[in-house]
Amino acid sequence: MRVPINELGLSIFYNRYLNEASMNISDRHSKLLKRTFLDYQSTAEFMSNPLIVSRAEGLYYWDVDGKRYFDGISGIYSTLLGHRHPRVEEAMRAQWDKLAFAPPMHGTSDVTLDFVEKLGCVTPDNLNYVKAFSGGSESMEAALKFSRQYHKQSGHPGKYKFISRYSSYHGGTMGAMAASGTGARKTPFEPEPAGFLKVFPPTHYRDTFSDWDECNRFAARQFEEVMIHEDPETIAGVIFEPITNTGGVITPTEEYFQIVREACDRHNVLLIYDEIITGFGRTGSMFAAHTFGVTPDIICGSKGLSSGAIPLGALMAREEMGEYFYEEGTNFSHGHTYAGHPLACAVGIAVVDEILESGLDRNAREMGAYLASRLEGLKSLGVVREVRGRGLLRGVELVKDTTGNEPFPELGRALKRTALENGLVLRVDPSWFAVVPALIIQKDEIDELYGLIEKSLKDALDRV
Ligand SMILES: Cc1ncc(COP(=O)(O)O)c(C=O)c1O
Repeated sequence: MRVPINELGLSIFYNRYLNEASMNISDRHSKLLKRTFLDYQSTAEFMSNPLIVSRAEGLYYWDVDGKRYFDGISGIYSTLLGHRHPRVEEAMRAQWDKLAFAPPMHGTSDVTLDFVEKLGCVTPDNLNYVKAFSGGSESMEAALKFSRQYHKQSGHPGKYKFISRYSSYHGGTMGAMAASGTGARKTPFEPEPAGFLKVFPPTHYRDTFSDWDECNRFAARQFEEVMIHEDPETIAGVIFEPITNTGGVITPTEEYFQIVREACDRHNVLLIYDEIITGFGRTGSMFAAHTFGVTPDIICGSKGLSSGAIPLGALMAREEMGEYFYEEGTNFSHGHTYAGHPLACAVGIAVVDEILESGLDRNAREMGAYLASRLEGLKSLGVVREVRGRGLLRGVELVKDTTGNEPFPELGRALKRTALENGLVLRVDPSWFAVVPALIIQKDEIDELYGLIEKSLKDALDRV
C-alpha cells in the first residue's frame, strides 16, 4: 500500500507531527506524556507534579519554564562529575572524530580495549577481565549468565541458583529482576525464572537485636544457611549491593562482608557485587569493595561510569575466570550490538581519569562526612530515625516519632512535592529519602543542598 503524501510531498503522517508541534508546550507535553511511560511510577501521579527538564549543568537542572533545581541525586546516582562535564564532552567529541561504532561481534576497537585496561587498573585485586555493556541491567544479566556458564565449564554444572536479598533492585530485565527483591516491581511479570533465592538484609532484624554488629552477623550467616539447605552444589552465586539503595541506603558492617565472603569460599560460590550505584568513587573509594575491604569475584558497574552522558555499564571479573572462556571452541555465549561502544568507552575512560586526577573519591569521603553531619541535624525535627550510608551516598529514614519508630510514608509523599516546589530533586521512597549529589560537590554547595532539604522537610511536616 502506498503512503499518501501531503502538499509538501511528505507522508501525511508528517501533518500530524506539524499540528502537534504547533500546540502550546504544556498541552503538548501533557498529550505526549499519555503516550509514553515513566520508570516505576504512574503517569497520572507524575502529571500531578511533573518535572520536565530541558537543560542541566554541574549540580543543577532547569525545567522547561526556566526554574532551577538542585540535583540532590546526581541524575539517578549517575552524574558523578556533575551534568555535562567538559572533560566528558571533549572525550566524546574526540572519539566521534575518529570512530563512533565498531560491531562487537566480528571486531572490536582500540578504545574498547583501552577501556578494558583502564577499568582493570582501578578494580580491586585481579578483577581485570572486563566487558563493557550499555547499562546496569545488561551488566547484571551478563553476570548471571557468566556465572552459570563459568560453573559449567569449570566442572560444576549443577550450580545455577543465586541468593540475593529482599529490598534489593538489580535491574528491569527478566534475570536481573528475578535477582531483585522488590516485590511490587516484580509481581506483574511472575512467574520469574527458576533458581533465584532470597535472604533478608540486616535492617530486617534490627529491632530483634539491640546490637547492630550482632544483627549483621546474624543476617550475613543466612547466606550460608540457605547454601547448605539448598545443597551448595546447586548454588552459583551470591548477589548484593554493598549499600542497598532501594531498601533505604542499607549499610552493613565490614564484618558482614567478611562472613559472606568466607561462606562463598567454603562452598565454591561466586560473590557478585552490584556496584552500579556504589562504584567509581561514590562511597569514598573507587569501589565499595575497597571501602568495606572485601573483594568479590565479579563487580557490575554502570550509572556513574559515564557520568550520565551515554549508556554504559561493565562486568569486571577475576582474570582467571576469563581463562575458561578463552580457548578455541569455548566462548562466553553472550553479546549485544552496542556492547563496548567506542563513544561510551571513551567517556568511561575520561570519567575514571577525572576521578583519579581530581581525587573525587577523596572528595566523596570528606564531603560525605560533612553531608552526613549536616543531615544528622534533621533529627531535631523528631521524625528522623537514622542517617545512613558512606561517602556521598546517604539515606535518611523517616518515622512518625523516634520512640515508636513507625514508618512515615505520608511525610515522604509530601516531601516529594515540597522538594520540587523548593527547587530540589530528591529520591523519596516514601519512608526514606536519598541524598546523593555529584562527587564534585563542595562545602558551600552542601550547605545550600542541606538548606533546601531542611526547608522542604519542614514544609512537608506542615502538610501532614
Ligand atoms: C543497584 C542497581 N542495579 C541495577 C540497576 C539497573 O540499571 P539500569 O537501569 O541501567 O538498567 C539499577 C538502576 O537503578 C540499580 O540501582
